[in-house]
Amino acid sequence: MKTRYVTTPIYYVNDVPHIGHAYTTIIADTMARYYRLKGHETFFLTGTDEHGQKIEEAAKSRGRKPQEYADEISGKFKALWDEFDISYDKFIRTTDDEHKKGVQKAFKTMFDKGDIYKGNYEGHYCVSCETFFTETQLMDGEGCPDCGKPTNLVKEESYFFKLSNYQEKLLKWYNDDEQCVLPKAKKNEVISFVKQGLRDLSITRTSFDWGVKLPKEMNDPKHVMYVWLDALLNYITALGYGTDDKNMDFWPATMQLVGKDILRFHAIYWPAFLMSLGLPLPKHIAAHGWWTRNGEKMSKSKGNVVNPKEVADAYGLENFRYFLLREVPFGQDGDFSQKALIDRINSDLGNEFGNLLNRIIGMSGKYSEGKVTSKDVKALHVKELNEVETILENIEDKLNLLQTNRYLEDLWKVLTIANAAITAHEPWTKMKNDDKDGALAVVGLVANIMARVTVLVSPVMPKTATKIATALGFEINKESYVKLIEKKELLSDFVIEKIPPLFPRIEEEVLETPEPTPKKEEKKKSKKKEESIITIDQFFETSLKIGTILEAEEVPKSDRLLKLKVDLGEEKTRQVIAGIKEYYAPAELINTQVCIVANLKPAKIMGMLSEGMLLAAKDKSGLSLMRPEKTKKSGTPVG
Ligand code: MSP
Repeated sequence: MKTRYVTTPIYYVNDVPHIGHAYTTIIADTMARYYRLKGHETFFLTGTDEHGQKIEEAAKSRGRKPQEYADEISGKFKALWDEFDISYDKFIRTTDDEHKKGVQKAFKTMFDKGDIYKGNYEGHYCVSCETFFTETQLMDGEGCPDCGKPTNLVKEESYFFKLSNYQEKLLKWYNDDEQCVLPKAKKNEVISFVKQGLRDLSITRTSFDWGVKLPKEMNDPKHVMYVWLDALLNYITALGYGTDDKNMDFWPATMQLVGKDILRFHAIYWPAFLMSLGLPLPKHIAAHGWWTRNGEKMSKSKGNVVNPKEVADAYGLENFRYFLLREVPFGQDGDFSQKALIDRINSDLGNEFGNLLNRIIGMSGKYSEGKVTSKDVKALHVKELNEVETILENIEDKLNLLQTNRYLEDLWKVLTIANAAITAHEPWTKMKNDDKDGALAVVGLVANIMARVTVLVSPVMPKTATKIATALGFEINKESYVKLIEKKELLSDFVIEKIPPLFPRIEEEVLETPEPTPKKEEKKKSKKKEESIITIDQFFETSLKIGTILEAEEVPKSDRLLKLKVDLGEEKTRQVIAGIKEYYAPAELINTQVCIVANLKPAKIMGMLSEGMLLAAKDKSGLSLMRPEKTKKSGTPVG
């Protein structure tokens, strides 16, 4: 197959992009860049999923029209992917006219084939997952088995897709095509689900209207398409299915990336729809795991959702890409923590990768005015070259099966060979012993190893790889891929370009870390504490004082924090870091009075000392600082 087609799920527009969205999109982008590097004509699709009850309700709760709301959030996804330099060829929106036409055409085709019939649906529906469930599937008789939220009882006229007819055909596909669903463990889960028996699928809804209408010929205007039918079809409507068929040559997809929670839709419904439409099935449907933060599930209510833009701004986009792909085995859940990210940057990227380049720059500068030659590399370093080639031999199989962590691990093993060669051959001793050719051969060997790693790491870290390649006198493209990787040729001689260190060391965490949520037991305990009776002496252990805010400024890179200088009538003003940025502008705080807990142990927040705490009351309508009714001298005790 010459062409390649890579897709991400299309993202719901009820939420702004988070690390999970960034993860899928970055893996897909890496694959698209890899295919292009190898010279394949590649189509990379991403976009937004904008219909359905969930989006309609999300818009309504914000007093917005669904379309207008979808426009805004879809715009945020697109803007982020553009900022992240995601190399998509098309950004599809399910509210696009061409998409809607394609969906209607698919519905009619499946109907004409006899795969769709009209009936009545009675059962439970989870709006959050946009999924139908039977009574027996529910958790404790009412909760959604996937997300735990309460489900609604739905009773409505509906068209059904004869999914049950496809059970055996699907099982045959899983059986015949070893790698159709990746990774294997996930494929096995899909197989056991299908073996339990497939029920026909309700594919239209009548209780709301934010969706694609049925084709006119159906003469049934009260129905809109079930959002998953509408959404899954994006993968072909984006290629022109149902309109101009312009890019249908790219079908079937090479790599369809999804999260584990939506694998069922992609590995069961989607191929069944395709079989009904008479279209070939995708090569790989690949399910990745979920990200947690510091060991906890991310959620808006906990306020611990990782914002990918913040991370990329703070630590560098390409470092973040490397971390995401290196940190977890594909298919397994991964944990995001700043510590783990910093370790990867300082150790893998800084010490092992960046340092090697600095060593070549340093040595070639000293020994040969920056000139690097491959002249004697083959003659003197056949052992190291063989070791490198052995590792690189099967490395691309790993990437092709999305084992990105193993792919990167292997590339780093190759870097170790280069570092070990420097230690073993001591080019500086060779220079002292008048063996300049020997010293230059070591530098040449390391440059060549570095070049190969750079080509292969370029889909993961494209800009960094370009900088290194430029320093090493070559360009990253299909020609250099063929020359250095396929044909295993060596670099032509070049003069190295000195570039500043690519991975400056990071000493401390840059972003604010949300407090971990107390575990159930602790929550109970702390609640008890809140309610327990204390003595007056216990109360007076807390020193509360009136403070006057003299200065206030925003803390950069924090959505929550302000840095205040507060006069407590002491010799020195106190610095207080307060989480009130969302509620007060710095200017409106200056020269106002507040109530301060003055004997709290000083703490460091985002690396800044905080020497007190403001008292405030917070409810749904916002936050209000506790202030004296009349102005008091700074430092006046409260009690
Ligand atoms: N709109 C559907 C997909 C339709 S595709 C035809 C949808 N959208 S979503 O926005 O809710 O989720 C998109 C992707 O984000 C899913 O693949 C999901 O697995 C992924 N993630 C959501 N939270 C995640 C993490 N915490 N970690 C990793 N990925 C997660 O589902």
